Amino acid sequence: MGATLPTVARPRSVFACTECGAQQPRWLGRCPECSAWSSLVEEQVGSGLSPRDTLGIAEEPQGAGAGTAASPRLLGEIDATSVPRISTGMEEFDRVLGGGLVPGSVVLLGGEPGVGKSTLALQLAAALEGVAPVLYVTGEESPEQLRLRAERLPVLPEKVRVLAETRLSQLAEPWREAAPGIVIIDSIQTLSTERVESAPGSVAQVRDCAAQLANSAKASGSTLLLVGHVTKEGTLAGPRVLEHLVDVVLHFEGDRHHAFRLLRTSKNRFGPTQEVGVFSMTQAGLEAVGNPSELFLSERRAAGSEGAAGAAGPGACILPLLEGSRPILVELQALVAPAGYGTARRTSIGIDDGRLALMLAVLDRRTHLELVSRDVYVNVAGGFKVGEPAADLGLALALASSCLEIPLPPDVAACGEIGLGGEVRRVARLDLRLREAARLGFRRVLVPEGQEIPPGECGDAQPIPVADAAAAVAWLRTCPPVHRPVNGS
Ligand code: TYD
Ligand code: MG
Repeated sequence: MGATLPTVARPRSVFACTECGAQQPRWLGRCPECSAWSSLVEEQVGSGLSPRDTLGIAEEPQGAGAGTAASPRLLGEIDATSVPRISTGMEEFDRVLGGGLVPGSVVLLGGEPGVGKSTLALQLAAALEGVAPVLYVTGEESPEQLRLRAERLPVLPEKVRVLAETRLSQLAEPWREAAPGIVIIDSIQTLSTERVESAPGSVAQVRDCAAQLANSAKASGSTLLLVGHVTKEGTLAGPRVLEHLVDVVLHFEGDRHHAFRLLRTSKNRFGPTQEVGVFSMTQAGLEAVGNPSELFLSERRAAGSEGAAGAAGPGACILPLLEGSRPILVELQALVAPAGYGTARRTSIGIDDGRLALMLAVLDRRTHLELVSRDVYVNVAGGFKVGEPAADLGLALALASSCLEIPLPPDVAACGEIGLGGEVRRVARLDLRLREAARLGFRRVLVPEGQEIPPGECGDAQPIPVADAAAAVAWLRTCPPVHRPVNGS
């Protein structure tokens, strides 16, 4: 802007949104980009920071083409299989990354406070200390606090170098000396550089610090793990700009009151973004969970006796969901109760409110269930958050089951998306879902009508096709309490 209008004085400060990073020339009560209220803070305009600035850790950068111009290469001759990977020794973490850390890459690990980011970072450090020197920069906790945390872990990472520092410029010296293979910054919001005048954690600070750190990592060949906080809305705090700057964005999710944690990727320059890692927070740090379905159904199974799955009361339904390419069985519970006075209450935990409202409206219009005037509560057991429309059929069945006081048989699961016309729509990877359900002892799975499953693709589970919500409710009213295989065995 300043270049085209040389006579106009450049503004000395801008107002940046702490939620999304968008900049405005003047203060506004609400960010026009992301609609957050009171999120704009004043920031000085940077003093011409070059995007190639590093901390000065590598005077002779090892990165290709530093100083000299690189010549173009034929795409066909570039060998991508030679991208080296450092296995982290944590199988779930490697899976999410697509095979391990790429040296020189920048990984952003975001999550809500208390979800276990520092614990994960420290366990990563512990797993890697034998492979490469690890520098752990802690801006939130003292080295003593970090040591106390480390003592809870199964193996004490003795050789990890810990540096309590919040000034970016002070990292250059230790970085040069330690020559670390991995640098962990916990967290990026606590660091600050003198080059930017705004407070630590502000968009400008975070962006500038992250840019310098990322350049330093590329120049020195170290892998950089940036720990970042997310806002209550679940986006990475402040800078979306950070997401452009890094190679991999990981989200660590989970309910603080439950042990279950999910590690997802939303961006990965070196691998798929489909994979999820499943962990459980224990007394001794995070443990990988090989069979997440078993974790979610453990209480249900303990409660019952017959078959793989214990009997549950009315209102419970098992959903075979998909997280990335992994099938996970979760239990959804619904409670339909007579409304007190006034408007009926709708409370849902673990499932989107809008989805529940939609399903209630569909059931009201397309079946004979009386739901609109009643209180409805929905909960997903174990703190799991359902994000898939494939949960619709299970939700509809759970609501119908509670409303009619008819429990679903213990060997039944359901998956399918429900449209506004009540029709049951197809879901992705039905074969995976059916196999997982069969593996855990569910013999009957309600599936969308017309979705072909090759025989032998669904294990021991028998698919029961349903065309629409009314058919599902009709099936519930008349279903045999136990599965009788067709061949009579
Ligand atoms: P923490 O890693 O500090 O979260 P973050 O860095 O994302 O803010 O972990 C926070 C919680 O994890 C804390 O409430 C204690 C719990 N925790 C365990 O349950 N077991 C453990 O072994 C450790 C180290 C922490
Ligand atoms: Mg922390």
